[in-house]
Amino acid sequence: MVSDLDKGEAILETHLPLPRVAVGKVRDIYGVGTDKLLIVTTDRLSAFDVVLPNAIPMKGKVLNQITLFWLEYFKDVLPQHLITADMDAMGFSREMISHFRHELAGRSVLVKRAEPLAIECVVRGYITGSGWKDYLATGRVCGHKLSPGMKQCQQFPEPIFTPSTKAKTGHDINIDFGEAIRIVGKDIALQARDLSILLYKKGREYAASKGILIADTKFEFGMHGGKLMLIDEILTPDSSRFWPADRYEAGHDQPSFDKQIVRNYLETLSWDKRPPAPELPPDIIEKTTAAYCEIYKRLSGKEIRTPKQESL
Ligand SMILES: Nc1ncnc2c1ncn2[C@@H]1O[C@H](COP(=O)(O)OP(=O)(O)O)[C@@H](O)[C@H]1O
Ligand SMILES: [Mg+2]
Repeated sequence: MVSDLDKGEAILETHLPLPRVAVGKVRDIYGVGTDKLLIVTTDRLSAFDVVLPNAIPMKGKVLNQITLFWLEYFKDVLPQHLITADMDAMGFSREMISHFRHELAGRSVLVKRAEPLAIECVVRGYITGSGWKDYLATGRVCGHKLSPGMKQCQQFPEPIFTPSTKAKTGHDINIDFGEAIRIVGKDIALQARDLSILLYKKGREYAASKGILIADTKFEFGMHGGKLMLIDEILTPDSSRFWPADRYEAGHDQPSFDKQIVRNYLETLSWDKRPPAPELPPDIIEKTTAAYCEIYKRLSGKEIRTPKQESL
C-alpha cells in the first residue's frame, strides 16, 4: 500500500493567514474560530533542546501521520481532539488551500481546542534518560522507589508513571504523583495516570510486533467540555524513545532510530550545545529523513518513498 506521504518541499516555518497562537519547537499553531486549532507539524528538528537551522524533509509529515495512525488505533479508548486531517474539509477557502497547499498537505490537523493540563504525562517502561540519572542519584524516579542494582536501560517489571512540569522554556522537571495531584487535582491526576499507562502498554505491544521498542513516552491531555481529552502528538519518535528491538541490550545507552544520527554528528563538533546550532551536512539530513520514514513504514505497514528514492 502506498501512503499519502509524498516528497513535497521541506517546511521550516509556515505563514498561514490565520492568527498564530503559538510556535513550538516543531509545530506552528493557529487559532480557527474560538474553539479550534490548526496544528501544522513542520520539518524542524531539535537536538539537545535547541532547534537546528536545517529542515529534515518529510519529518513533519511522518510525525503527523504517525499521530494519525495512533489516533485511529486508539479511537475506542478515549475522546480525542481530531476534527479532520483532510485540508479540503477544514472549512478554508479554495484560494487559501491552493496557495498554501505545500504548507498544509499531510502535515496539518484541525483539532478541538482544549485547555492543556499543566503536567506532561510521561510513562517509562525502561530506565534511561533523566530517569536513569535520578535513580543513580537517589534510588528513586518521580517518587517511585526502585530496586537496587538496576542496569542502564533495564526494563521495569511494570511501566511507571513519571509526570513532569510543563516548562514554557527550558527543561521540564520530574515530579512525584503527589505534586501532580496538587497541580491538576486528584481526580484528573488519577485518570491521566491510568490512561497514560494504558495507552503506553497498548502502543508498545503493537510497536514491539514491528521490531520497535518504545522505551518511554510523553502524552499530553487537555480538558474539553469538562472531560479529559488526549491532545498533541501520540507515540511519535519525538515524544518517545524508539529503540531497534533487535539491538536492545541492557547495561548501556541504546542506539535510537532517529535523532541518533544527528546527535552523533553534533558530538563530533566542538559545539557547546547552546543556540545557534550548527548547520547539518546533506548526508546527515538525508539519513535522518530515511530514519523517520523507516519508522513510519514499520509502524503503519505503508510503503513510502524518501526524497532520495524519488529523485532516482
Ligand atoms: N487540542 C489541543 N488544544 C490545545 N493545545 C494543544 C492541542 N493539541 C496540542 N496542543 C499544544 O500544541 C503544542 C504543540 O507544539 P510543539 O511544537 O510540539 O510544542 P513544544 O515545543 O511545547 O513541544 C503543545 O504546546 C500542545 O500543548
Ligand atoms: Mg511537543
